[in-house]
Amino acid sequence: MDKHTILVVDDNRTNLQIIREVLEAEYTLMLAISGEMALKFLTKKKPDLILLDLMMPGMSGKETFFRIRETPENQSIPVIFLTANQDEDVEVECLNMGASDFITKPIVPEILKRRIGKTIELEDLHKRLQEKVEEKTLEVEVLALQAIGAIVHTIEAKDDVTQGHSVRVAHYSRAIARALGYDEQLVARVYQTALLHDVGKIGIPDSILKKKGRLTPDEYNQIREHTTIGANILSAISTISYLEDGARYHHERFDGLGYPKGLHGEEIPVIGRLIAVADVYDALVSRRHYKAPMNEASARAELLAGSGTQFDPRMVKIFIGLLDDGTIAKVKEEATIQLKTEIMNADAAAEA
Ligand SMILES: [Fe+2]
Repeated sequence: MDKHTILVVDDNRTNLQIIREVLEAEYTLMLAISGEMALKFLTKKKPDLILLDLMMPGMSGKETFFRIRETPENQSIPVIFLTANQDEDVEVECLNMGASDFITKPIVPEILKRRIGKTIELEDLHKRLQEKVEEKTLEVEVLALQAIGAIVHTIEAKDDVTQGHSVRVAHYSRAIARALGYDEQLVARVYQTALLHDVGKIGIPDSILKKKGRLTPDEYNQIREHTTIGANILSAISTISYLEDGARYHHERFDGLGYPKGLHGEEIPVIGRLIAVADVYDALVSRRHYKAPMNEASARAELLAGSGTQFDPRMVKIFIGLLDDGTIAKVKEEATIQLKTEIMNADAAAEA
């Protein structure tokens, strides 16, 4: 393992020399004779620990400490103060400020070594624990997403007309997110969110979802509920907080005439405005219980006609670009292949 690095700050050169002799075999040292010099060092390299003299002319140890803590990346570096006076009040004050420990001068080599060793050991343990927690959180997220993905497939499998809608909308939404220049982490979130946008349909009776004729106003109101039901389901997955907005806002309209909240323009979270375009496009070009599929040119014209009223014009512009350069056709093909594979896997699992 690499040596840990310690930044030592003391205006007294003799002290610096002593500390160096005690620690240099075990640690990489950065020696600073003032607070200003220490701050300059910190802009270049992050040490694993800071040993900071409390009494210094110019910038005091206390001031140096607070200046160090102003930078977010420096907030977790443990600091041990070197105090000359054996004054309990000063020592308590150091700990209250957030110091890890204090060591009184004159320096006793063995005490210096042990205190530093303990602090670094604790810090390493803390870091490893934090990494483990992050790793486990990610595992839980993946599990939750897989579980919900399975629910989506179950809902869609009940109805061969809408089968694949969510997966296609997720693929289209991901293409829009990439065209918006989102980083890959955000792109992945958009995909997951879009995949689950209609999960609330689980709470709507089949007799309404599959109705061939015109819906009554009451039935239409029930269908609208799928946005809120979906958001409530997804809000239960507290580790992935971003999912619920897609379900809640994908039926809002740019002109404020949508549901469930009737939000207007940019009040609608961007994920809702994004999924809305992908969702409607797929609905238009797909067969539904109540209609035949529309051809691509007519669907393109429909989206343009709704730009600024039903849809965010920016999202329409991007989507039309993706239609025209063949991206949508390509990702639709990918979605179809993915669906076939998933259905085959599910059948194989059912037989086993
Ligand atoms: Fe929907």
